[in-house]
Amino acid sequence: MSTADIDFDRFRLRTFVEGLTGSGEIEVRPEPVDLADVARLLEEVPRALWLRQVGPERAELVGNVVAARSRLARAFGTTPDALLPEVLRRLRVRHPVVEVPQAEAPVQQVVLTGADADLTALPVHLQHELDGAPYISASMDFAIDPATGWTNVGFRRLMLRGAREAGVDLVAPSDLRAIYLAHAEQGRPLPVSFVVGCHPVDQVAAVMRLPVDELGLLASLRDAPLPVVKCVTNEVRVPADAELVLEGYLDERGHVEAEGPYGEFLGYYGGVKRNPVFHLTAITRRSDALFQTATIGGRGLAHTDTSALGVVRTEVAVWRALETAVREPVAVCATASSGGTFNVRVALRQRVPGEARNAIAAVFSCMANVKHVFVVDPDVDIFSDQQMDWALATRFQADRDLVVQNGFRTLPLDPSLEPGTRTGAKAGFDLTWPFGDGGRLERAVPEPPRYDCPQFPSVRAALEDGPKHFAELMAATRSRDGREVVRALDQLRTDGKLDRDERGRYLLS
Ligand SMILES: Cc1cc2nc3c(=O)[nH]c(=O)nc-3n(C[C@H](O)[C@H](O)[C@H](O)COP(=O)(O)O)c2cc1C
Repeated sequence: MSTADIDFDRFRLRTFVEGLTGSGEIEVRPEPVDLADVARLLEEVPRALWLRQVGPERAELVGNVVAARSRLARAFGTTPDALLPEVLRRLRVRHPVVEVPQAEAPVQQVVLTGADADLTALPVHLQHELDGAPYISASMDFAIDPATGWTNVGFRRLMLRGAREAGVDLVAPSDLRAIYLAHAEQGRPLPVSFVVGCHPVDQVAAVMRLPVDELGLLASLRDAPLPVVKCVTNEVRVPADAELVLEGYLDERGHVEAEGPYGEFLGYYGGVKRNPVFHLTAITRRSDALFQTATIGGRGLAHTDTSALGVVRTEVAVWRALETAVREPVAVCATASSGGTFNVRVALRQRVPGEARNAIAAVFSCMANVKHVFVVDPDVDIFSDQQMDWALATRFQADRDLVVQNGFRTLPLDPSLEPGTRTGAKAGFDLTWPFGDGGRLERAVPEPPRYDCPQFPSVRAALEDGPKHFAELMAATRSRDGREVVRALDQLRTDGKLDRDERGRYLLS
């Protein structure tokens, strides 16, 4: 494929953000805003927020871009309920990665090296009261794993330490951590480039942990060829249509410098950690680059970028586990309010007894981050908090339907753990009806009447045909009112001809 065929604006963040205007999904603030006020504004506005003049440089900044399932679904050209099937479909398609010459890569329209490359010239704001410093938060790292030659892609926040240094959190197990440790053990720095500002689809790819060349994963999720360009000061290849790239390396000293605290993705602070340091060697960007920030911690987890991305990652992992564990999974929902990961809801159609329990066991083990699993029959809408609360209230007996197990690998960030604990407990809530439960009236959900019955000349004639519910008698006699049916039944009762069965149907005695 020739580079002339590539539309470098199709998957650009700015194009996506501009496409949100007028949709009710974005708020645009044209007035000047200090960096000090950005965090508060983002917390107040659940929509995407596009600030047109931030700080003394009057920079453009966008946040909360993917912080809603509806916006992520838009990015994938689908609806919120069809997001998971669409992501799963795209994961199965393959598209090429196309390297373009540096002169043609929009992300290298401006190249800043040496003293011109300055992290403190970017519109980076303090996100939470106790954060160690302003963080670049929407930073997607690209690094080459020498063992495979593949490019690893993830998200890693960057704590500003100066013009050309930032702290990187590499404590949790991840592919980048493993690649970095292998370099540090040999006393070698690891070249890394961070993309700041790219299409939401690329951001979803970054949070997936799959054993593949993740540049190919970006292409798959775009459902289009991925144009990449080699960085100016290292060998890493990044999307050529991104907004801005921070090139550099993680030095070989290992986990030695203080990083944090930081408002983390479970809604609480993570403390000060010892972590590696990123050294900036170049900034490249589009001439009209749009800088992006990602929301993460606080009380409004349901409206953060990090939770929304975590939701997709969790739902993909859970769905894949369910596909092998049970016959007919119907839907999966990881709640954004639990950080996109701790609380997972599953709807399934049980074909044999015990499948709800198999689903719980499969979901327990498919991700360390999943803690509570709620399994329902397909009639419950798992995307509705109200319906899930109703199912928990009415279909669950704690001594019969609760599965509790402990000793699992867990997330040390979970504040409910005792300090220093490395393992944690998981609970499964089986909210399905007992298998083969023959449709007791007390378990049938009331619906508005549908008036579905063959017609008869009278209520009596209808009952001669067999027992009928009141609504059937209305339909049978074409009643659009019902009260004349009451009167006809009253007459039959007075004549000693009327009876009821245990299902509440009327019948002739
Ligand atoms: C906005 C955002 C910021 C993140 N920051 C970090 C981070 O600083 N450190 C970390 O270990 N994981 C972080 N994560 C999670 C990782 O990006 C995620 O686990 C990813 O799959 C790791 O990729 P890898 O295993 O291929 O390296 C972040 C996720 C998001 C959405």
